[in-house]
Amino acid sequence: MFYHFENRVGWMNDPNGLVWFKGEYHAFFQHYPHAPRWGQMHWGHATSKDLIHWEEHDIALFPDQKYENDGGCFSGSAIVKDDRLYLFYTSVSHEMQQTQSVAWTDDGVTFTKYEGNPIIAKSPLGDNKDFRDPKVFKFGNEYRMIVGAGIYNIAKLLLFRSEDLLNWEYIGELMSDGRFGGVAECPDLFQLEDKWIMMFSSVKALPHRVCFAIGDFDGTTFTPEMPLKNVHGQMVPGDDPFFPIETGPDFYAPQTFEDPEGRRILIAWMFNWSRQAAAGQTHVGAFTIPRQLDLNIRDELIMFPVEEACGLLKKESTFVSYERGMLRVAFEGRTILERPFAQEPDIQVLEDVGVVEIFINGGRENITTYIC
Ligand code: FRU
Repeated sequence: MFYHFENRVGWMNDPNGLVWFKGEYHAFFQHYPHAPRWGQMHWGHATSKDLIHWEEHDIALFPDQKYENDGGCFSGSAIVKDDRLYLFYTSVSHEMQQTQSVAWTDDGVTFTKYEGNPIIAKSPLGDNKDFRDPKVFKFGNEYRMIVGAGIYNIAKLLLFRSEDLLNWEYIGELMSDGRFGGVAECPDLFQLEDKWIMMFSSVKALPHRVCFAIGDFDGTTFTPEMPLKNVHGQMVPGDDPFFPIETGPDFYAPQTFEDPEGRRILIAWMFNWSRQAAAGQTHVGAFTIPRQLDLNIRDELIMFPVEEACGLLKKESTFVSYERGMLRVAFEGRTILERPFAQEPDIQVLEDVGVVEIFINGGRENITTYIC
């Protein structure tokens, strides 16, 4: 049995709209059903009762509106209010470029697009070329939406507020940082214990980097904690709050959600933009195993497979080894990647669908990579 979700046919990229709704986990995903390559985007749809066995359903969102007549329905998120599941996504058209829209469902089967779409038609930056991937969450009695953006080659995260999920007001920029290239994609902002985590994917380098910062959020501003650094033997606050959440090449566009047990669960797209389908391949892309996020006693972010998947972890791997200070992933004698580790790390591995997901030292560091 393969336990990683893969779409039946065509292309998939980012996980979208991860949510628990009416007794099931729902996961949507960026989908082009007509060929195993990126194309005008639809939202594919799958459900699961245990985060391991997934059932793929009919496509949830088709690019059938004028405001989606170019790129279609790009990434976004889900939230449940009064028994209704709302899907927020980026609608991409020739006329308006990237705008934010909403659809909903009461039964998880039929989806209705709001007649007032797009709900955010103009980027506050004055340019809708890079203005996408809304992540909506509840904050007190209100809602917040964090959107990825960029202008003049500076990646930005923008924050909006709403009381009813339909009318949105711009609050301001949560981040503006040219080191991450021209656009920050697939942002997320969520509480973990008494901290807030801000996360996004950066298109700057291939393979892309997924970053997070730990800090505080008061509804308007995110204040990152600066990690301490050693300057001439003295520990002083550094100036860069961002860490990579994964160091493997096949991990991008993660999104998190909270399940009914209060677990913060993350799923990412297992592939990357520099890869393409092999000859004869009819479907491309997969989800990572769902991973639970926690803070350890040193307030470091830990990411480890959800309990339901722990029985699938292997201590001995055919593909992963450690020798003379080097962690090595190899397939048929060919080295796929190497990472130096001064001390032998504790390694637990998932091997499935041509991928290894390596959880190092209990999830303090992780590597996801295709091996062929
Ligand atoms: C990230 C991304 C998103 C966008 C989607 C389009 O992988 O580029 O920013 O919404 O893919 O498919």
